[in-house]
Parts: sequence; C-alpha cells; structure tokens
Amino acid sequence: MKTKKTVDNEEMIEEFKSLVNLNDADFDVMKKHRDFVEKIVDFLVDDFYTFLPYHPSTAKLFAPWMNEKRKKQLRQLLIDATQGNVPFKALFVVGFKHIQNGVSPRYPLAMISRIQNTFTSLAFQMLQNKDAQILSSAFNKLTAIIGIIFVYSFNSAISEFSGMTPELLEKMAKLGGVKKSSIT
Ligand code: HEM
Repeated sequence: MKTKKTVDNEEMIEEFKSLVNLNDADFDVMKKHRDFVEKIVDFLVDDFYTFLPYHPSTAKLFAPWMNEKRKKQLRQLLIDATQGNVPFKALFVVGFKHIQNGVSPRYPLAMISRIQNTFTSLAFQMLQNKDAQILSSAFNKLTAIIGIIFVYSFNSAISEFSGMTPELLEKMAKLGGVKKSSIT
C-alpha cells in the first residue's frame, strides 16, 4: 500500500534557515534596531498597499480585500518576525491562502524584493553605514525565508492537487532542453 509522504515543517524550516544562513546574530541585530524597524514599518506597509491595488497585474487580485485589517496584519508580521517571533508554521498556511486566492508566488516574491530594497535604502539613509549593512543583510535573509515558504506552499499545493509526488516535482525542476522559444 502506498503511504503518502508527509512534510515535516520543523525540518523544512531548519533547512531554509541554514540555506540562507539566518542565525541568532541576525535576530540580535534586528532586535537591537527595533526602533528603526518601528519607525519605518508604516512606510513599508503603505508602499505595499498603495502599489498593489493599482498595478495592472495585481489590481484585480488585491482590491476587494484591501482594508485596515490586512495592513495591521502585515505590519504586525514584520514587527514580530524582526523581533525573533517568526510565525514559521502560520506562514505555510498564509502561503496556501495566497494560492486559494489565485495569487501566484511570483507576486509575493516580487513584493518581498521591493520591501527589501526599500528597507535597505531607508537603513542607509537613517543609520551608520556599517549598521545599515548588517541590519539589511539580516532582514533580507529573514524575508527571503518568507518567500521560500510561499514557494514551498505552492509546490505542496501542486503536488496535492495533481497527485504528483515531491520526487516528480524535483524531476521537473531538473528538466533540461526547454526551448527558448517556448518561454514567453
Ligand atoms: C511580502 C509578501 C506578502 C506577505 C508577507 C503577505 C501576507 C499575507 C497575510 C498575512 C495574509 C492573511 C492570511 C490569513 O488570512 O490568515 C495574506 C492574505 C492575502 N494576500 Fe498576501 N502577502 C504578501 C503578498 C501578497 C501579494 C503580492 C498579493 C497579491 C498580488 C497578496 C494577496 C493576498 C490575498 C488575495 C490574500 C487573501 C485575503 C483574504 O483572505 O481576505 N499578498 N497575505
């Protein structure tokens, strides 16, 4: 009898952390700069919610539920995560929420990059260069993991809905010979 492969989230989280080299020192530096994070978090969240509802690709996905509750949620997530309380397991579910709402992970990944860039430029404007560099590096690793979890949720959903095993998905990832003309 076939047994369904279950995913050990704890193990995955440890793997993600070690791949991006997110460690205790990163959380120490983010905690040390809590004031900075609190000063800029509203700017990050406002930028997010001003940009997405008007961008042609995301407007239809975003507008119906854009509200204060979601703003507060994103704000709290950024504060909690930078203070060492990363809701890793909840993030797997948040990843699924996006899929349920027809949001491809490419959009969160693009937004994560946007948030990282804004964070870095504000850090260099407001802090000493060395602090800005160390803090931005920690923040980039942390937010990269959020993106990785969203992609992971997406892969798991494909696997679940299509009946594809994770091994088959791995094989697909290694597919060679994709013609350039087939990538549009
Ligand atoms: C930095 C990247 C992002 C983060 C951290 C994030 C975070 C979240 C969170 C915390 C939720 C609430 C999940 C829940 O109900 O428990 C959510 C829901 C949602 N997000 Fe995102 N999100 C991101 C990017 C995006 C982007 C780029 C889009 C659209 C293009 C998007 C569309 C949605 C939608 C449609 C929902 C469901 C709303 C609902 O149930 O009312 N998200 N997101």
